[in-house]
Formats: sequence, structure tokens, C-alpha cells
Amino acid sequence: MEKILDLISREVKEAFSAAGYDAQLGRVTVSNRPDLCEYQCNGAMAGAKRYRKAPLAIAAEVAEKLKESRVFARAEAVAPGFLNLDIRESFLKKYLQEMSAEPKFGLPEPAAKKKIVIDYGGPNVAKPLHVGHLRSAIIGESVKRIARYMGHEVIGDIHLGDWGLQMGLIITELRERQPDLVYFDETYTGDYPDRAPFTISELEEIYPAASSRSKEDAVYKEKAMEATYKLQSGVRGYRALWEQIIAVSVSDLKRNYARLQVSFDLWKGESDVHDIIPGMVASMKENGYAHVSDGALVVDVKEETDTKEIPPCMILKSDGASLYNTTDLATIMERMEKIAPDEIIYVVDKRQELYFEQVFRCARKTGLVRPETRLEFLGFGTMNGKDGKPFKTREGGVMRLEYLIGDINEKMYEKISENPDNAAMPEDEARATAEQVALAAVKYGDLSNQASKDYIFDIEKFSSSEGDTGPYILYTVTRIKSILRKYKEQGKTPEAALLREACGGSEKALMMELTGFNTAVETAFAETAPHKICAYIYGLSNAFNRFYHENKILTETDAEKQAGWIALLVLTRDVLETCIDLLGFSAPERM
Ligand code: ARG
Repeated sequence: MEKILDLISREVKEAFSAAGYDAQLGRVTVSNRPDLCEYQCNGAMAGAKRYRKAPLAIAAEVAEKLKESRVFARAEAVAPGFLNLDIRESFLKKYLQEMSAEPKFGLPEPAAKKKIVIDYGGPNVAKPLHVGHLRSAIIGESVKRIARYMGHEVIGDIHLGDWGLQMGLIITELRERQPDLVYFDETYTGDYPDRAPFTISELEEIYPAASSRSKEDAVYKEKAMEATYKLQSGVRGYRALWEQIIAVSVSDLKRNYARLQVSFDLWKGESDVHDIIPGMVASMKENGYAHVSDGALVVDVKEETDTKEIPPCMILKSDGASLYNTTDLATIMERMEKIAPDEIIYVVDKRQELYFEQVFRCARKTGLVRPETRLEFLGFGTMNGKDGKPFKTREGGVMRLEYLIGDINEKMYEKISENPDNAAMPEDEARATAEQVALAAVKYGDLSNQASKDYIFDIEKFSSSEGDTGPYILYTVTRIKSILRKYKEQGKTPEAALLREACGGSEKALMMELTGFNTAVETAFAETAPHKICAYIYGLSNAFNRFYHENKILTETDAEKQAGWIALLVLTRDVLETCIDLLGFSAPERM
């Protein structure tokens, strides 16, 4: 379906043309003075010089041509030469009727369907998920859903941190604690046990312990490097133990991500590209891209137009070990070979921006990607506490995601049980609803900010049912659902209700907001910006609530009018629910 602004512009362009002017002057925008008109066109001002005519005269001629328009109820030329436009209720009704009838509310299928890989989540095995990982999960999930809804083929990949020194550290610490484990017996040739010799909580305690010990104890660090080497060169027991670590960790991660309603199509990790690294490195050398500098193998990536220093991309350390860069490059190579995406989007902390700039340049230079492959870095800012510093626990430690979510669930549960309207709500429904609303509070609180900005995680604000918050949007949806339920109880069918022409200001305003759906989704996709969807549904919810407060829907005696309103509610609910699904949360029946 054509966007309403395009439709309107077309109408005005035709009028410019009919009046003898360049059609291109007829571009229409949403009015910046909603008190004066709904839409405006400033083309006459732009054309004045070219046609040596007063802008007001041009505007008047165009307005004249629009008199009989099926689109505009009013097209008025005002000094010094603007066209003030209001659309016809009949046109608006028709537009919304079509929107309701079309799949995806008339959002057109993309001209070319793209294959897009989204690299997000990026947790590290055996390390607890902390709030830093929350943003990647929330934003990446929404970006994925938006791209998919647009009609593209989208593959979400978690890109686990499951390789390198961090794994060597864990193995070393396990060996210190349980030296007799069969995994460390290098003469052992039998099968290894099915059960891991540790639990997830032990694992999560082991990593920080090992990491801090390695910083003080050089011999220990040496052992960890040795263990890393043994693991990477395929020593059986080390591999088996590592597989156990992955299995225990991944099942815990899956549980955590499921609670966040975040899911991945691929659970690939850094380790998956280990075997293709030597080939990649060899070809970089053969083709003369990589050279040795201070013992390390590097690829120069600086460009003449650079205004800041872009250091070379390191491929191998002087001891021949591969790095974070190497795995990212090899992962790009593997994705190109196996998936051949048109685009890869990385949703990672913005502090890794320079790093990704190096990796992207290196991938282009060495021909790992096609020239037309888009590599996009969506860097997000830090989630801060109320003190403006990175979010911590009360004790000052790294806040675990699970605890954070637990706290918010508790808070929402209190709110829901305190509400007298919910006196009859069974305990388990109250708990489930609390979780649903809490998730909306957290996700909306994050997504409503532009991703690259830091923001303050303010749970009081995020969980408020007023203002630009997730719970406010959910209240709006549940309010609509409750009216529709009661309408049904009156023995009528909401699905059979037909839209009608608006007769009041707030009714027309709500209808106009609804027409903005496809623009909001398309912009959110084009700019990789879920906050555009938040802004849209906040405006839509406000418009709905104004309309709701001005009209008594359920007691309306004119059945046709009532049905028209109900149809409008159905469409508003559907658009809102579609949008929150794109953000990665959902609304309860009541709250
Ligand atoms: N595991 C990394 C971290 O915790 C994030 C991974 C980001 N993705 C990537 N392809 N490098 O910092």
C-alpha cells in the first residue's frame, strides 16, 4: 500500500502540474503547526523565484485545482505562500479500510528480498549474563524481528565467546581443584562421563576466581595458556571437558534468553571457525595482504581519507596464537561461504567500534566479502545506574541479569496486587502478568532510547504506568481489550464492526496516527532504529487515550457510530500488538 504522505503528495503534485508548474514542487509534509492544518506544502515558496511570481499567487492557483479533490477537505493558500491542507474524513476512512484488509496493514513487500545475518547476544561461556549483555539481546532481537517483518530472510546468530584463554583459565582452575578427573589423564582412551563434574553455579564462580588468580600468579597464567593451547590443538580430554563446559553453560543461557523472549537461529561460537583459520591466514599471506610487524602478522587498514589513526588489524600474535579479530574475520568468511548474506549487522557495545572498523576494512581489503556486502556496526551505549555510572549491584559488583529481572518482576507483582481492580485475579495469573509487564518495562525502557546513547536504568520510571513507558503502552492495549470484551458481552461482534468517517477531532487524530504504521516500520528498518517504533506507538497510544476520554464507547446508543468506534479500536489494538511484538514483548489480557 502506498504511504499516505506519498498519496497526498501525488495529489498535490498533480495540482501543481495542472496549474502549469513543476510537479516536484508538490511535496507534502506533516504540518508543523497542527493547530492550523494537518499537512502542508511549501512548494509555492520554492517556485516563486523560478516562475517570477508571488508565492501566494502560485499557492492560490494550486489550491483552486484542489477544490474538488477527493483527498482534501480543505486546501488553502495562506500568506506568504503556504498551502494548508486538511484531509477528507472519507479518504481517511477508505485508507484505513484498506489497511485493515491488507496483510501487514499494507506494508509492501521489499523490492529485493535480502538475506541478513544479525550477530547479537554475544555472551561468554561460563560467565554469568550481566546487564551489558542485556542491551545486545534486547536491541538485536528487535532489529531481527523488524527486518523479518519487512519481508527479509533474517538469521540471528548468538556468536558465543567459547574459545581462547577464557576456556584455558576455567580448565586450569578445574584441574587445580579436581586433579584426579579422568579428563586430565592423558593415557586414558575410554569414553568420558556423560555428566559434567560441576554445576552452572560452580562454573560461574570458577571463572572469576581463575581470572583474578592468573593476574597475580605468573606460573598459573602459564598453565592457563598451556591448557588453551592443548584445547585448541585437540587434546582429547581437554576437548571433552570443554564440551561439558559448553553444554552446562548453553543450557543455562537458553533458559535465561527464553525468559527474555530472545531466541537465536544459530548457536555458533568463536570455536566453530577454529579449523578454517589456518587456511584464511595462509591466503592473506599469499595474496600479500598480511605482513609481519614486530613479530605479529597484521593487515594494514588505514585509508588516505582517515582523520583519525586506524591501527593495523592484527591477525596472529607473535607466538602464532589467533585473536578475537581472527575469529571474527574467519566467522565472516564462513558466513559468506555458508549463508552468503547481503548484510551482516553486529549489535555490540559501542566501545568496540574501532575494533569493528578494523575488522570490516580488513574483510573488504582481503576479499572475504563481496564489494556490495553491507557490514553494519550497531554500537549501543552503556546502561547506567541512577548515579550515572555503569549499573552495579548494591554491593558494587557486576549486576547479574537474573537478579535484575527478579527484582523487577517483584516490583511489578506488588503493583498488580495492589490494584483493587485485580482483587479477583488468581495468584498465578498475577505472577505471569507481572513478568510480562516487567519485560515490557525493561525492553521499552531500553529500546525507546536511540541505541547509541547511554541511558539511565531507572526502574521507578520504567515501571510507571504513565508517560513514555512499556507499562503505559500495555495499559492502552489492555484498556482496548477490556472494551472489546464488554462489547462482546453486549452480544455484539467486534470483528463485524465497520469503520466509519470520523466525526470528532480526537477520532480523526487517532485515525491519522494509524496511517503512520508503514512509515514507522520502514524507517525503523532503514535506520536500524527500534526507537522509531517506540515513538510511533507512544503517539498512537496518546491519540487513543484522548479519544477514549472524550467518548463513551460502551454506552453509545447510535449502533452504527458505536460499531465504527469498535472497528477503530480493533485496528488500534492490532497495530499496537504488532508493534510491541516487533519490540519483543506482548500484552496481557488485563493488568
Ligand atoms: N563476546 C563478546 C563480549 O562479551 C561480544 C561478541 C560480539 N560479537 C562479535 N562478533 N565479536 O564482549
